[in-house]
Amino acid sequence: MALLLLVLGLRLAGAQRFDPQAVVQRNYNMARISGAWYSISMASDNLTRIEEDGDLRVFIRNIEHLKNGSLKFDFHFMVQGECVAVDVVCQKTDQNGEYSISYQGENKVLVSETDYKTYVIFYMQNTNNGTQTRVLALYGRVSELSPIFQHRFEKICKKYKLSAQNIMDLTQQDHCYSKR
Ligand SMILES: *[C@@H]1O[C@H](CO)[C@@H](O)[C@H](O)[C@H]1NC(C)=O
Ligand SMILES: *[C@@H]1O[C@H](CO)[C@@H](O)[C@H](O)[C@H]1NC(C)=O
Ligand SMILES: *[C@@H]1O[C@H](CO)[C@@H](O)[C@H](O)[C@H]1NC(C)=O
Repeated sequence: MALLLLVLGLRLAGAQRFDPQAVVQRNYNMARISGAWYSISMASDNLTRIEEDGDLRVFIRNIEHLKNGSLKFDFHFMVQGECVAVDVVCQKTDQNGEYSISYQGENKVLVSETDYKTYVIFYMQNTNNGTQTRVLALYGRVSELSPIFQHRFEKICKKYKLSAQNIMDLTQQDHCYSKR
């Protein structure tokens, strides 16, 4: 079964095309971000937080654009071998595609780019007692994305001063996947 899913996932990944014309970097239609997503990669200037047992190592399931403009993320993560689900509601700000949330300090969450149909890249900046941490996440509509989307992610990471060494591959790392 797992193999079948893997093969299916790879087929879907193989069918993906990166279309530069479809990339949106401003004036987002957030309703189109709604729906199911998979965690593909994360990056941070503090790897401890996205490594195993890191507080920001969370796996996306679904994003919902709420009527009041807030953005709800459904995540799963592991706590002592158990899968835990958590909903996080980020409040909209007056900037399009930009949200805020209090969690381990103050966080700014924003869409960096998306094509709505294949991938989305989020940027998060956490400020906790004067310490700033930057986190980026690449989510896919399918569980695996072709390398061109990873390259795209690396490019965006660079823009936020994070190098390839700051990136963690999260495909095949979601141990709550089968319970989905
Ligand atoms: C990285 O995160 C860990 C866990 O939250 C924290 O203990 C550590 O101080 C952080 N390191 C830096 C350089 O901020
Ligand atoms: C929007 O609705 C959600 C869910 O009901 C709620 O958690 C959030 O606080 C609301 N945001 C605002 C700004 O009212
Ligand atoms: C916040 O930072 C200050 C100065 O570095 C430190 O004295 C204090 O213990 C920190 N507070 C917390 C809750 O980490």
